[in-house]
Amino acid sequence: MKTVQFRQVIAVAFLLVGHTAFSQEKLPQLGHAPVSEIIKLMTLEEKASVVAGTGMRFQGHGAVIGEADGRVPGAAGNTMSINRFGIPGTVLSDGPAGVRIDPFRKGDSTKSYYATAWPVGTLLASSWDTALVKKVGVGFGNEIKEYGVDVILAPGMNIQRNPLNGRNFEYFSEDPYVSGYMAAAMVNGIQSNGVGTSIKHFAANNQESNRNAVNAIISERALRELYLRSFEIAVKRSQPMTVMSSYNKINGTYTSESYDLLTKILREEWGFKGMVMTDWFGGKDPVAQMKAGNDLLEPGTPRQQQAIIDAVKNGTLEVKVLDQNVERVLLYILKTPSFRKYQYANTPNLKSHATLSRSAAADGMVLLKNDNSALPLNKSQKVALFGIGSYKPVIGGTGSGAVVVAYTVALEKGLSQIGYVPDTALKTIYVTQIKADLKTHPEKNMVLGSPHLVPEPELRATDISSAADQDDIGIFTIRRNAGEGADRKVEDFYLSEAEKTQLKAVADAFHAKGKKLIVVLNIGGAIEMESWNKNVDAILLAWQPGLEAGNAIADVLSGGVDPSGKLATTFPVKYEDEPSAKSFPGTPANRPAESIYDEGIYVGYRYFNTFSVKTSYPFGYGLSYTRFAYSNLKLSAATFSKKLTATVTVINSGKVAGKEVVQLYLSAPNKTLDKPSEELKGFGKTRLLQPGASQTLTFTIDPKNLASFNTEKSSWIADAGKYTVKIGASSEDIRMTKPFVLAKMLIVEKDHKAIVPQVSINELKKLTK
Ligand code: BGC
Repeated sequence: MKTVQFRQVIAVAFLLVGHTAFSQEKLPQLGHAPVSEIIKLMTLEEKASVVAGTGMRFQGHGAVIGEADGRVPGAAGNTMSINRFGIPGTVLSDGPAGVRIDPFRKGDSTKSYYATAWPVGTLLASSWDTALVKKVGVGFGNEIKEYGVDVILAPGMNIQRNPLNGRNFEYFSEDPYVSGYMAAAMVNGIQSNGVGTSIKHFAANNQESNRNAVNAIISERALRELYLRSFEIAVKRSQPMTVMSSYNKINGTYTSESYDLLTKILREEWGFKGMVMTDWFGGKDPVAQMKAGNDLLEPGTPRQQQAIIDAVKNGTLEVKVLDQNVERVLLYILKTPSFRKYQYANTPNLKSHATLSRSAAADGMVLLKNDNSALPLNKSQKVALFGIGSYKPVIGGTGSGAVVVAYTVALEKGLSQIGYVPDTALKTIYVTQIKADLKTHPEKNMVLGSPHLVPEPELRATDISSAADQDDIGIFTIRRNAGEGADRKVEDFYLSEAEKTQLKAVADAFHAKGKKLIVVLNIGGAIEMESWNKNVDAILLAWQPGLEAGNAIADVLSGGVDPSGKLATTFPVKYEDEPSAKSFPGTPANRPAESIYDEGIYVGYRYFNTFSVKTSYPFGYGLSYTRFAYSNLKLSAATFSKKLTATVTVINSGKVAGKEVVQLYLSAPNKTLDKPSEELKGFGKTRLLQPGASQTLTFTIDPKNLASFNTEKSSWIADAGKYTVKIGASSEDIRMTKPFVLAKMLIVEKDHKAIVPQVSINELKKLTK
């Protein structure tokens, strides 16, 4: 249902009045004439319309904040067309987990426009497989193109600074190296189709609480080493067509108004060639945004256009600055399918994309526990499925990162399709509960923050005991969901009393019969596990796996796919153990005006490892149904010069075929500057190794891998001294080490002094000098 008509699209026609002097043929046309020639002939009004999108109105399904008034209903935004110069409009659509558009169109009852829900970013990162992520990107990009979209507002790649960030599911990791490489793989895959991406949200959008105004106060070093570093890697390795600036301020300035961020760092230092757009209605001052290098304002308002026109007229905005913004937008348009008049068919191959989504999902699931080989399941077992999530999976988070899908596969269906026999009495209880709940809570396609989840039914003791009697094994699915617009509450991190009680009752009943209980975690961010993980036999972290959820989970539980995912984010013992627990989401807590990142560089494993704080499951951790032995670590030299390679051989020493994720950490000398005990500087995944088969992986260490950001010198500096290469199966399970020496201190890179905090930050330090 349409609600408020938020704002009308500006009619281009009126802009053209008074430009009859040039006939259409004589005017330079985009693609045929240099853009500078077109810009010379544009009116000020036309220029202002190019740098602001066509606006939006609030609607039912589509984009989260609204729906663009354009040719792909439900897409989030558009850019303006100007016919007299042959400039077409282009279409921008959310979001990271799939093409977020309306499934139905007015006056078109014969066709649907459902999209594939891919596994969420956190799951994809847990695969540690950039080739796989690129492959997903290739399929995703095809769907983007075939639905007539020019730019997908993805991937999301903020650092998972704190487990309660409501949008963590959209992001990849707590580590910038993993985030950067995953984002680059996704961008390269998507853009290989000739469509664009918008890596987001640049930068430090690490919370949803008061996201539109919060001032993130971050040291230059933490910014450079963590929050900017991931974007730097993605920009340098994939040249995304566009970058989306974030809503928040950093050190007092809106990111969309920050010349330091968008021009000095992004363009001058990193060599970004594309266009920057705002997040939807992001920032305050359109003129400052133009000056900063934020070329496109989305979704675009008449007020913004007027402000730009006025500023040029009154001399507060130089027209040459605006011309540069216009030029970047035009250069972007030149690269789009819309410009090429690509005839999209609206019939992407959803079947083959679903198959790809399923296999990617299985490859990113993480086996956290598997006592006495509780998994894989024996063939054709009778399974007692507990938890609403076993019948109604959470396929992804909410907000713009959600996808409107034609179907989802539940675990119950996934298992029965491959010969398992789910308990029908339990199924009746859960399905009845779901149906009853749907009457009071009908499904919505647009939800922000934590959605309503069907409450777990109360089970009678006899329901549990008869399942434990009759079935061979129990499987209990625990769900969580969150998304754009709100952070998770601390309570959401812990199991509720009801969840704990039910889980324990089920575990006790199955154990009393000598049977096992498996837990499947269908969640988008870390939860507490220490208080209950000892009561269960195996735990599979399935994350939020996209529309083929149940099939992918069944693939792993059955052993059809060997689990090969590892955590790209730490699971702490308790929330208070998080280094940012005290400062997140800032002050005042109900609507934080500022958020001080006083943990500095000690985010995730950088903190837990350096300060020896116990975790439930550390960064990089994950089990398999087989085992891997590491041998033969070799460095190309004992002394570093220019670059160094490390090779290590991995052999499958177990009984089934599997893939292993190998991580390279580096410890650097820390006499003068705080350094984490180790930092990830490389990772690789073997191919599927049969038992007894081996593979040698090669890692390259470049000078920047050795360096830390020295704030006084605004430079990346590698200290002279002894470095240690640590090859790990996780950040805590280091299998082999080898030292090398850097003979002389190395200034690897000199950067701008930029985005300097206005206040002093009492940062966490290890070194006491
Ligand atoms: C979100 C973006 C999204 C945009 C368009 C914003 O609210 O933060 O991630 O791309 O809306 O829907």
